[in-house]
Order: sequence, then structure tokens, then C-alpha cells
Amino acid sequence: MEKRALDGDIKKVLYSEEAIRAKVKEIGAEICRDYRNRKVLMVGILNGCFPFIADLVRAIDAPIEVDFMSVSSYGGGMQSSGVVRILKDLNKTIVGRHVLLVEDIIDTGLTGRYLLENLQTRHPASLEVCSLLDKRDARAEEVPIRYVGFDCPLEFVVGYGLDYDGLYRNLPYIGVLKEEVYTHR
Ligand code: IMP
Repeated sequence: MEKRALDGDIKKVLYSEEAIRAKVKEIGAEICRDYRNRKVLMVGILNGCFPFIADLVRAIDAPIEVDFMSVSSYGGGMQSSGVVRILKDLNKTIVGRHVLLVEDIIDTGLTGRYLLENLQTRHPASLEVCSLLDKRDARAEEVPIRYVGFDCPLEFVVGYGLDYDGLYRNLPYIGVLKEEVYTHR
């Protein structure tokens, strides 16, 4: 694997670029099968979802639509505040649509729960969740996830869309930061 400038900040890699690529392909095929007779509207939750959804849509060989929401739940650090704010809403109505929420990670579940409740009031025909990572041991709110990439340990992870203080989203893999990265900031 080619050495990158940010690799020095990473203590360990949890999911390699190759493992992610294979998993995304698998999930894409599953979505394609499940939505064979229904056109799916994929709703990406920004900012963390962008690499995942970009790869996922290209792993789906069927007519789909894509829209985005941007929410803020963390104040830039590592703790979920529990307060979810919609910074950017969907461009179109979802009444009667088959909606698939696409998330980078479900951690406490506070964001996912809020989004599911919010979108359900808009009367979609169906509403499911797809998350690349599931940190289930951190769950405070129940979130039914239809498509999961990997079960994630109770560690703060970065890369492939996931950030620490806005950084590391551009790593092609997912890993854990060295302790000194936090102490030096
Ligand atoms: P929640 O705790 O399930 O509400 O997670 C909300 C958001 O926090 C996720 O969509 C991520 O953007 C972010 N987040 C949660 N855990 C991590 C992590 O381990 N690394 C980076 N971001 C995280």
C-alpha cells in the first residue's frame, strides 16, 4: 500500500481500503436485489457519508435517486451532544418514496433516531437505514439498521468520511488515531 502523509497519525487500521471496497460491493448487490421492483431514493447524511455513498451508488446497477441532508450533532469533538440540528434539508418531498438513509456510522443512535422520526412524519412508502459502521455497544437509542457494513468496536474512528475535528475524512481506510494526536491539538 502506498504511504500517505496522514498515515503517521494512525495507531491501527480497522478496515482497509480493500475490505471497504469488497463490503460496499456486497451491500450494493443486496440493495439492488431488495429494491428490484421499487425505485429507491438514497438519502445521504452529510458530511460523513460522502465517500461511502459515492462508492455505494456505483455498486448499484439499477435506477436510483440521491438526495442529501446535513445534520450536526457533535460540536467538533468526540462526544454526541444529543441535540440534532438540520443544517440542510432534502431538496424534494419523499411522500410515497422508498427512502434509504445512508450513514457513515451509527454510534449512540441519537442522530439516526431523530432522522427516522423526522422522515417518518413525511409519509415515505418505506424507510430503511444503511450504515457502513455500527458501533452497537455505544447505543443509547434503538435504530433498526437494514444494511450494515462492519460492527465497529467502542473506539473513535477516522477515515473514509469520518473525521476528527474536520480532519482525516480523506483517508481511504478507517482507523484509530494515536493518542498524541488528541493531546497535541
Ligand atoms: P450518533 O452518536 O449515532 O448520533 O452519531 C452521530 C454522528 O457522529 C455520526 O454520523 C458521525 O458523523 C459521528 N461519529 C460517531 N462516532 C464516530 C467516530 O467514531 N468517529 C467519527 N465520527 C463519529
